[in-house]
Amino acid sequence: MPAAEVMSASSIHAAIIMDGNGRWASRRGLPRAAGHRAGAAAVRRAVEAAPDLGISTLTLYAFSEGNWSRPAREVSALMKLLGRYLTEETARCIANGVRLQAIGRRDRLPPRLVALLEESERKTAAGTRLVLRLALDYSSRKSILDAARRISGEVTEESLSALIGPDVDLLIRTSGEQRLSDFLLWECAYAEFVFTPRMWPDFTAKDLAQAVAEFHARDRRFGAVTARTA
Ligand code: FPP
Repeated sequence: MPAAEVMSASSIHAAIIMDGNGRWASRRGLPRAAGHRAGAAAVRRAVEAAPDLGISTLTLYAFSEGNWSRPAREVSALMKLLGRYLTEETARCIANGVRLQAIGRRDRLPPRLVALLEESERKTAAGTRLVLRLALDYSSRKSILDAARRISGEVTEESLSALIGPDVDLLIRTSGEQRLSDFLLWECAYAEFVFTPRMWPDFTAKDLAQAVAEFHARDRRFGAVTARTA
């Protein structure tokens, strides 16, 4: 592989809309919470596989602002599951060089979950193999609004980008849905999209490798003309 390709291959920002937990569970006659538990196992697989696929940042849509409108029982099950994930995975993150960060609002999350997030962010801060960003109580429109309000001087593309977050290279959505659902709208300006019918709990390291391979096969032009299109 040419040096330039090796360099770009080692710095992909991949983002995943993990969809289909509920349908995966219903098809098996299981409660939706069982789908989310199986989804958490798929998160572990993706996090483990990501660094060796050249992914340096992985942003996962774990709980959207809109998800608050789900039944209280499901919301509570999701919050508990996220807490359990942090409790169980922080040590593994440290061992594997994974730096965990949360994006989104924290003030409406259960205080215990916020404490676990902060502890995990602190303990994993030295990780350099992968930045794992969990989007929680997240709305991309709100994040853009927040950033715009925080800028006191001239609003420029660079100043907004610096506050909003890194550009996404590869956006994956599972379960056959093909929407952004208020996820990383600004950051996905030039992202390559990969949609797969696979339900998130069935998503494997091989699926992630396939999505990355598809990403590398794409001709990213950023509006310009390249050798392939000239
Ligand atoms: C979408 O499936 C998924 C979610 C709303 C939550 C994502 C949560 C997890 C994958 C589990 C825990 C996460 C971590 C980071 C440990 P859905 O319920 O909307 O599925 P449906 O469209 O089939 O109903």
